[in-house]
Amino acid sequence: MHTAIQERTIRPARNILGSLRLPGDKSISHRYGMLAAFAEGTSRFTNFSTGADCASTLACMQALGAKVHKLDEGSVEVTGVGGHVTPTSQPLDCGNSGSTMRMISGLLAPQQGSFTLVGDASLSRRPMERIRKPLEAMGARLTLTEGHAPIIIEGAALNAIDYTTPVPSAQVKTCILLAGLQTSGTTTVREAVRTRDHSELALRAFGANLTRSIDSISIAGPQLLHAIDAAVPGDLSSAAFFLCAAAIFSGSSLVLDSLGLNPTRAALLDVLTTLGAHIAVLNLEEKHAELVGTVQITAPPEGLRSTEIRGALAAQLIDELPVLAAIAPYTSGGIRIRDAKELRVKESDRIALVAQNLRAMGAEAIEFEDGLDVPGGQALHGAVIDSGGDHRIAMAFSVAALRARGETVIQGAESAAISLPEFFDLLDRVADR
Ligand code: S3P
Repeated sequence: MHTAIQERTIRPARNILGSLRLPGDKSISHRYGMLAAFAEGTSRFTNFSTGADCASTLACMQALGAKVHKLDEGSVEVTGVGGHVTPTSQPLDCGNSGSTMRMISGLLAPQQGSFTLVGDASLSRRPMERIRKPLEAMGARLTLTEGHAPIIIEGAALNAIDYTTPVPSAQVKTCILLAGLQTSGTTTVREAVRTRDHSELALRAFGANLTRSIDSISIAGPQLLHAIDAAVPGDLSSAAFFLCAAAIFSGSSLVLDSLGLNPTRAALLDVLTTLGAHIAVLNLEEKHAELVGTVQITAPPEGLRSTEIRGALAAQLIDELPVLAAIAPYTSGGIRIRDAKELRVKESDRIALVAQNLRAMGAEAIEFEDGLDVPGGQALHGAVIDSGGDHRIAMAFSVAALRARGETVIQGAESAAISLPEFFDLLDRVADR
């Protein structure tokens, strides 16, 4: 395959105006796709994520025996394997997707057969010990390559465990729950910081029984899942780029329809409010226990203030931190981020790349092991941005570029397609030039 590195030139804008409806949430689409492919029956989804990551999940599940049909734009029909996958001698390619690799490992560990999971260069650098430990405690047989992918799984019957996650991670939690779903006895996952709960909500939607306490979630296996029909809520982490773009122009007004507003994901709206943006949430409804609504943002005429993000908030905002840091120079008092060490092991080292790219645009940024200080009141100039092949870095600096002096070139712009292939078109639609 020809994988040319694409550049995109971003011109400054005067304002952000209009309304958008975004493709389906990446986290929810992964889960709906994976669970539907494992369940009994045929599920149908509308507004499924258009990102390459969710396509990796569907392709892996297809290789394991599920039937996947793309219908019209964003609609997909998945016929599941009824709880038993078909082993394949071909490696399962998880592409750039940590969610695919970590979650599918839990699904496959209790299955019969041998499975090899591979990923691209970025995914092959990301830590996988975090899933090996709990799965091995359940009796699974997993071989990593120096703590990373490729992962070889020899399926085996497992035993239930009670496990406290050392790092807050919804992917690790999901991995354990998917193994627990197929294991006799009660498997419990405890977490110090409540991570996104899409897996719990999706498992219930597919008919599974789970019990929740204040800091734990338990599943008694084995249980069989049943197909559902669902509309996937718009992706709030993709919306973050447009919301932050709107927030930095005092005359802007943007409406985002049918957006996922699950409380474990919606901390960005509080942060934007703290910064001084006006946010209204309209038409709230629940779909398969996921909150969905319309969000309207208008920026304050006096500009954005300052904020500090640390502790549990940092974990809950982990995917939104790059864009918040990228717009921080445009606030009056800056943004301080701490307790976000996980950013260093995402699709790239997001702390290092954010700092490097802010400096390229002429801003001051102080890097810490677990975060960044970005002072406010700074003007940026156009620059060449190294996205490091990381979708969220490419999109974050496209947003910063809107208020910079001169043009900005985003290298590796094609990486946006990992979560939002439509990003640049959508940005052009709402950027008033
Ligand atoms: C995700 C969880 C987060 C997040 C990732 C998607 C998920 O990762 O950064 O983009 O869908 O569960 P961790 O759970 O590893 O923190």
